[in-house]
This record gives sequence, C-alpha cells and structure tokens, in this order.
Amino acid sequence: MSINIAIDGPAGAGKSTLARKLAGRIGFIYVDTGALYRAIALYVINENISPEDAGAMEKALGGMRIELKYIGGKQHVLLNGEDVSGKIRTEQVSAMASVVSSRPAVRARLLDIQRDIAKADNVVMDGRDIGTAVLPDADVKIYLTASTRVRAQRRYQQLIGAGEKADLSEIEEEIRRRDERDMTRKTAPLRKADDAVLLDTSGQTPDESLQALIEIINGKIGRKMA
Ligand code: DC
Repeated sequence: MSINIAIDGPAGAGKSTLARKLAGRIGFIYVDTGALYRAIALYVINENISPEDAGAMEKALGGMRIELKYIGGKQHVLLNGEDVSGKIRTEQVSAMASVVSSRPAVRARLLDIQRDIAKADNVVMDGRDIGTAVLPDADVKIYLTASTRVRAQRRYQQLIGAGEKADLSEIEEEIRRRDERDMTRKTAPLRKADDAVLLDTSGQTPDESLQALIEIINGKIGRKMA
C-alpha cells in the first residue's frame, strides 16, 4: 500500500515549494495537481474555446490527452504529447485555470489521473481538493494557508526577483478574486477537510514551515519519516 500525503490550501501559501521540499526529504513523488488544470487552461486558450460553452468544453476534454511524467524526480505535464511544463506558468494561464477548474466536467476528467498516481506510489500531492475529494482516505492531510497580504508579498518578491514588473495591490486583488472563485465554486470547493491539520505559514520562514510539516507527518504516520 502506498502512503499518501495530501496538501491543500489557497494560492501563494507556499504549498508547491514546501510540498516539493518535503517530498525530497522523505523520498516521495511530488505531484502538483494544479499543473493538470493549467494544461487544460492552456488548451482552452490556444483553441479559443469559451469555458462557459459546455458542449465545446466536453468535446475539448474528450479530445485532449493529459499525462504526468516524472524525470529525475521532476514533474512534467504533457498535453497531446507536448511537454507544456513551461508554457503553463503565465498569469493568463493562472487566471484561466481558476475558471476551468470550476467546471465539473474538468474536475471529473482529472480525477483518475490523480488517483492512479497515488495508488501506485508514495506521494505528496498538492492541490485544492486533494484531502476532500481526490484522496479522502489520505494518510495525512494538511491545510496550508497564510494571510492574503503575506501571500501577495511573496508573489510580489518572486516577480521582482525574476526581473518582472509587479504591483502589490493588484496582486493582492487578484489573489482575493482567485480565493473567492476557488472557495465558492459548486464542485469540490477549496476548504479544509475536517481531519486535516491546519498550518498557517504567515509568520514562518520556509525552513520553519518545512520543519512543522515534518513534525505533523511523523506524528500522523507514527514513525520518523525525516
Ligand atoms: O496551484 P495552481 O496555482 O497551479 O492551480 C491552478 C488553478 O487550478 C487554481 O485556480 C486552482 C485550480 N486547482 C484546483 O481547482 N484543484 C486542484 N487540485 C489544483 C488546482
């Protein structure tokens, strides 16, 4: 039986960085499920499909092939055979991913891909509905969050660090909008599973958060994983 660790929470809480580091420390595969929604968003943008058009969406979902591959422990997402791991990281794709992820047909399409990986391997899987919908029987569930302001500041620093232009209040507003959409959608909204442990990273350094995560996991699994 594989061991499954589910990490959910809003955008910018530090989920992907922490989940990746955690997976490396305990020798699990890190599965970034947001990349799957981003791949669908990229397809919808490229093919000029309106996400509101249920018929067009159904046809598109039926026609696209989405795969996750792990090369040297690093996740790659393939859309109809093309590695789109780089192309899915734009702000335009982020916004569209939030829109398409509210469509029940999109969520249903991605369920088996996620469950199959978790069944086959020990995983740290991050997303929005992993503990509540994808892996309700996960061995450990963590809900990672931070204040809106802190999350906006982190994103701002990332963009500035990458030499891009950024406006803090615009970023904060965009985060608020995404939270609102992700938390109020009808299908699998972002929420803490009843049996998830809440970890607020607002006042923590990444190392402190990682240490807190490892302690939660050691406690839940009942042995020292790292
Ligand atoms: O984690 P991310 O920013 O790459 O996620 C992109 C979008 O996909 C985000 O708006 C929420 C959505 N998402 C989701 O609904 N369920 C998941 N398991 C992962 C992501």
